[in-house]
Amino acid sequence: MKKILLALGLGIIMLVAGQAEKPLTPEQKALKNTMQTLSKGLMRIQKAILYNNKQELLAGIRMLKTVETGFLTRHGEALKKYMPKNPNFAISFAKLSEKNIERYVRMMRSDIYSKRDYSRITAGYTHIMQECIGCHQKIRQWKWEEN
Ligand code: HEC
Repeated sequence: MKKILLALGLGIIMLVAGQAEKPLTPEQKALKNTMQTLSKGLMRIQKAILYNNKQELLAGIRMLKTVETGFLTRHGEALKKYMPKNPNFAISFAKLSEKNIERYVRMMRSDIYSKRDYSRITAGYTHIMQECIGCHQKIRQWKWEEN
């Protein structure tokens, strides 16, 4: 019983703490949603590579492509908030990351049909992951979330 009460108490505290967080601006919300789509797309690609599943690979790539056009560049403004000391860098970095991600997505997609070489597809996946981490690392100054 004590344990149940404790769990309930903790649950309520977490709920209240969650609500106390600042609400996200529409821009931040869009960024978060897009990031989650990118993340899901990448996970599908990883699964596809490991399980040798072409449909999954195409589905993952399609997910990445849904946020392909201009998103990261347009959201340079949102990125600026995370890098107040370096606003110009935020914009140009976002643009470059987007370009690189687009290029690797295109490469991967053509590799599926032409070379069918999983090591090249895996290289594309790794390059994209490096782009994600490259930006996050700058933004987060690589501190782990303390949960
Ligand atoms: C140009 C910068 C930039 C690039 C490139 C980038 N992100 Fe992000 N990402 C951000 C920002 C800004 C946030 C929000 C701040 C944070 O979570 O630290 C974020 C947050 C996230 C989150 C957390 C979302 C949440 O629900 O809180 C995930 C997941 C994520 N990104 C995935 C990715 C993936 C996958 C890629 C690559 C395909 C990627 N990101 C590329 C800037 C970037």
